[in-house]
Amino acid sequence: MMDYIESGDVKMSAILVIFGGTGDLTHRKLIPSLYNLVLDKLLPEHFAVVCVGRRDKTLEEYRKDIKESVSRYSRNKIDEDVWSKLQNMIYYYQFDFTDTEGFGGLKYFLEDIDQKHKTEGNRVFYLAVAPEYFETIVHGLQIGNMADRQGAWSKLVIEKPFGKDLKTARKLNNKLIEVFDENNIYRIDHYLGKEMIQNIMVLRFCNLIFESIWNNKFIDNIQISLTEKLGVNSRGGYYEHSGAMRDMLQNHIIQILSLVAMEPPVNLKTDSIRTEKLKVIQAIEEITPEFLKNNVIFGQYGKGFIDGTPVPSYREELNVPKDSNTETFVALKLHINNFRWAGTPFYIRTGKRLGSGSAEIVVQFKDMPNILYLKDTEMQEPNLLVLRIQPNVGVFFQFNTKDFTTHHGIVPTKMDTSYETPTQGNTPEAYERLIYDILRGDATLFSRWDEVEAAWTVADQIIQYREQKKSQFPNYDSGSMGPVKAFELLAKDGRKWWNI
Ligand code: BG6
Repeated sequence: MMDYIESGDVKMSAILVIFGGTGDLTHRKLIPSLYNLVLDKLLPEHFAVVCVGRRDKTLEEYRKDIKESVSRYSRNKIDEDVWSKLQNMIYYYQFDFTDTEGFGGLKYFLEDIDQKHKTEGNRVFYLAVAPEYFETIVHGLQIGNMADRQGAWSKLVIEKPFGKDLKTARKLNNKLIEVFDENNIYRIDHYLGKEMIQNIMVLRFCNLIFESIWNNKFIDNIQISLTEKLGVNSRGGYYEHSGAMRDMLQNHIIQILSLVAMEPPVNLKTDSIRTEKLKVIQAIEEITPEFLKNNVIFGQYGKGFIDGTPVPSYREELNVPKDSNTETFVALKLHINNFRWAGTPFYIRTGKRLGSGSAEIVVQFKDMPNILYLKDTEMQEPNLLVLRIQPNVGVFFQFNTKDFTTHHGIVPTKMDTSYETPTQGNTPEAYERLIYDILRGDATLFSRWDEVEAAWTVADQIIQYREQKKSQFPNYDSGSMGPVKAFELLAKDGRKWWNI
């Protein structure tokens, strides 16, 4: 693992308190990640996990449930010895966290665990609950004097969505900083924990060949595509108030964009990196309704086929109104107005129920002059550098060579270092890395408040524009690659989306 942390003697002993202990995230990601951290010997010796939930369960029942989830979702098979180590660290605490009084009881419970596991009073409070409970829980922690205690540290981990617009995000943040110091707030964007996202900075700043041409003089355009085959399935209720803009663009895409476009930080300290990322978001060209008219396309999926299986339209999904105007797809052109990027467009797209599911960053380099070998070529095959985030992980590069099979002509050669996960790669799940970093106190892979604020400022303008517009939905079939207009967006610039 890459080590960004400066000091080697970070005190990691702690109790991880998970609010939402019976929820989906805990079962599918958090507990399986903890299992793998135990397996990889990355958890501190003095450590315990207290899962808080409203359901009535005995500790035995709870441990049995989560063992099933580990068997189902862990990237490594269950080993009984490792499981028993983890199981002995896990506790279930039943209480309704909307009852502020109940936090006193939780406090005593945690203090008992401190004695038993020598966790020194340190706490990580992980909010794996629906966003409407974020402020309530933080308030409860404040009332119960659990956030700010002498001689021990307390951290807060908060899942997305962080607000539903700039205004609500600010309100939420004000509550958080009333109780926790900004340095102890970890705003999760699970994309930042993905191997290839962490690799963006390494590729750029450890390879002369890339960084020296990473600018508007050599790069024609950059495409960021996060496409999914999945529909909203059972999450219609949440998604209806979110849409692709809030679900993917405001967070994951803007974070990726900032890593791709940032200037080299002065060092690898958390704040130096975050400051450079922030500058990218702040340099995004002003997004006026006039600009959006020509440069943003929204879509919503109709019925269709995914891998040959028929699937319903978005409006037929559970908890989605029949006349929903929510976008399940967005494609957009953006400009970053600074010396490095002015004139090089960034094309972004994300959507559900598309024909292929992948996450990729495609860097298209400028054409060569049409002389010498390329004299008679109408359309050059450009140099492409593709950072493949998933399902394959790695780098793909396309460059031109002589066609030695026919002894004449120039052909694009493809060099692909990416490997398919999980069969070959077994890369750590994003959450493993993130939990490990929280314990070490390294917030580099989490969003700082001013980044979130700047991202909302951008996203809000696009969302407001969309909300004023009644769209003709559905406008793409499930299994296609989105609305026709998303292709026209690039075609009118003489470009196309690359599906590598
Ligand atoms: C989540 C979104 O943040 O990211 C989901 O809420 C989306 O709608 C998911 O499916 C995609 O993440 P991944 O890691 O599966 O690409």
